Amino acid sequence: MRLFLALLLALAPTPALAWGKTGHRVIGAIAARLVTRHTRHAVRAILGVEGIAEASTWPDFERSNPDAFWQKEAGPFHYVTVPPGKTYAEVGAPPEGDAVTALTKFVATVRDRAASRDARALALRFIIHIVGDLHQPLHAGNGTDKGGNDVKVTFNRESTNLHAVWDSGLIDQEQLSYSEFAAWLLPRITTAERRDWRVTDPKVWIGESAALRDRIYPAPPTTPGEPAKLGFDYVYAWTADRDLRLEQGGVRLAAYLDALFAGKPL
Ligand code: ADE
Ligand code: ZN
Ligand code: ZN
Repeated sequence: MRLFLALLLALAPTPALAWGKTGHRVIGAIAARLVTRHTRHAVRAILGVEGIAEASTWPDFERSNPDAFWQKEAGPFHYVTVPPGKTYAEVGAPPEGDAVTALTKFVATVRDRAASRDARALALRFIIHIVGDLHQPLHAGNGTDKGGNDVKVTFNRESTNLHAVWDSGLIDQEQLSYSEFAAWLLPRITTAERRDWRVTDPKVWIGESAALRDRIYPAPPTTPGEPAKLGFDYVYAWTADRDLRLEQGGVRLAAYLDALFAGKPL
């Protein structure tokens, strides 16, 4: 029986909770190239040799930390919930908090000169991570399916769920490292986009994510109960939007960090 349970656990797909490592690092690497000198120095003063791309995945790594903060408090910091037809401004955050309330809290910590370096490093790593997460369309969940984690699909014949397809499936099938991916995307961001996308209000990023989210659900499978089968057609349909969200995530992360360290309102 113990063996059976162990096997069951080993086979159970763990719910994916963020862009995968590559997605977060692509956004971090793009941002690292776009921030001001002042921001670069401020980040280095807090994180030392750890760069923005490296810091971006740390809040997912720490999910397995047994401390109460990670097990009881930090879970909701990765996403927001916005039902179709509503805006984040209309629904706001639940009592346990969400990615937006976490951003506000961590901005205050980074700016608090009396806070410890460890506390400021945790806050900065979370900010870097959350700006990325909010550009993953399914991190603005519709409130019915845990951001697509409950939507079972196959992707290139492997059993998974819609959330994981967007966290990592669509990205990993490119077979690029994060630095190769960032090097492809960076020169495709035009000067006008760099200027026009510099929006630091998370409500704007969330509105875009929720609008995209509503378009990316596969048609219900013809046999009820069967997972929808996603393959080359799905990749072909959504590659441009995947790249757009990674590019915008990078530009917004740079803008957000610049505003953070310039003392601008956030
Ligand atoms: N749990 C509930 N909603 C979620 C979301 N949008 N993303 C990740 N995990 C979730
Ligand atoms: Zn996350
Ligand atoms: Zn996720």
